[in-house]
Amino acid sequence: MTKVLMVASEAAPFAKTGGLADVLGSLPAALRSLGDEVAVLIPRYRAVKLEGARRVYDVLPVWLGSRRFEAQLLLQEGDVPVYFVECPELFDRDGLYGTPEGDFPDNAVRFAAFSRAALSVMRFVFRPQVVHCHDWQAAMVPVFMRTFFFRDPTFTAIRCLFTIHNLGYQGLFPEEALTDAGLDTDLFRPDRLEFFGRVNFLKGGLVYSDFLSTVSKGYAREIQTPEYGFGLDGALRERSHALCGILNGVDYSQWSPESDPFIAARYSAGDLAGKRLCKQDLLREFGLPAEHVERPLIGIVSRFTEQKGFDLIADVSEQLADEDMYVAALGSGDAAYEDLFRRLAAAHPDTIAVRFGYDNALAHKIEAGSDMFLMPSKYEPCGLNQIYSLRYGTVPIVRATGGLDDTIDESTGFKFSDYSGPALLAAVRDALRAFRDREGWTAMMLRGMARDYSWRKSAAEYSALYKRLSAEPGPVTPA
Ligand code: ADP
Ligand code: GLC
Repeated sequence: MTKVLMVASEAAPFAKTGGLADVLGSLPAALRSLGDEVAVLIPRYRAVKLEGARRVYDVLPVWLGSRRFEAQLLLQEGDVPVYFVECPELFDRDGLYGTPEGDFPDNAVRFAAFSRAALSVMRFVFRPQVVHCHDWQAAMVPVFMRTFFFRDPTFTAIRCLFTIHNLGYQGLFPEEALTDAGLDTDLFRPDRLEFFGRVNFLKGGLVYSDFLSTVSKGYAREIQTPEYGFGLDGALRERSHALCGILNGVDYSQWSPESDPFIAARYSAGDLAGKRLCKQDLLREFGLPAEHVERPLIGIVSRFTEQKGFDLIADVSEQLADEDMYVAALGSGDAAYEDLFRRLAAAHPDTIAVRFGYDNALAHKIEAGSDMFLMPSKYEPCGLNQIYSLRYGTVPIVRATGGLDDTIDESTGFKFSDYSGPALLAAVRDALRAFRDREGWTAMMLRGMARDYSWRKSAAEYSALYKRLSAEPGPVTPA
């Protein structure tokens, strides 16, 4: 049994923009059932709805240099205790990281203060054996622990695991961010936090944590190459002996067609009848003609960013639009990709439809009502939607990268390797051809539905890693 504090910027159901929140919302409970004592710490954003939370610390000390922030600590008890850093000056705003116009200008201070607050939580409230930090927003935790507080016995006794969910977001700021955070300017060196003339928070996490992980074995290999390393592949190669990949699990209590409260009809591998009703419901929901229910329907649920491969869709959009199929897309993000879908839907109103925004219920309806799910990502650390799709009998079409490559094979979906429009088009056409063979298609759906990507195995891997780390007196070497 290890006592673990998870520090992250999102956790479902409280605050979510992507898969990070799904992981923080489900891994801790899986660890608890293995016997670990886990608590979660996130900021209290304006959007966080709390019922029955109590204030456990009225004046949580949060100093960045000589600047002091008025912070409090709230606790929502439950299966897993979730702590919230309440600091209205920093977090009581619409949006987690910014507005549609761009990132908040003070994100360096916001997440340095959040990380600094995590140290106070560890000192005064929940003292773990391992602090498990996620992504750049929590990366200053190990930096504070191992620089500013490097002689402090509270922190020398705590091991730090840092998980990279997405190397594409690093927390890059001007040099002053270090002084603003109350840190020494001698951290501004290429072997520390400096990165092409800027301060890189994520790099701090990579340099100062005892151990690193990422969310699939494939991505753990890829990030050590220039193609996928976002400039940090060298730093990662240097720590390759302290880096591993642990595939995300999913929470089937939230994502299963047998019990999903958001979908029009429940179904299962034993009785697929309800899936057709879900498809009709989805077509209606998107204003697509529901009488052609036999026509294949491709679903998309995504952040609209470069990562997700929409350039490929743009590249072959006319050929895709000419295929005899429906497309139903849900997402929001970059204006250029929103425009792409807006144009396509306007030009092909009977077959292509799009909904902008964040809508969890509709995401579930798309998983259930689609025949295929498209994820042509440029890179994908793990990816959860393709795993949800498998369980819903919705056959994934994915680019063979990172977690997509690790979770989908030719018996459960369609993959392409080249990051190119024609390669994407060929994979879609393969899927459409296979769809005509009803028996073969159903067999493929059933193979996907039978796959088990619950947390059982992956949580055990984390648990073993915590155990190993907490047994080590100092920086850890590989097993
Ligand atoms: P990423 O974290 O890179 O966005 P993942 O596939 O790991 O990708 O996780 C995405 C998660 O966010 C899934 O739970 C997905 O359903 C959800 N999601 C993404 N975009 C939307 C949206 N527009 N509306 C509702 N849910 C969304
Ligand atoms: C990131 C990645 C995604 C992963 C998620 C949870 O947002 O883009 O691939 O599934 O984190 O780890």
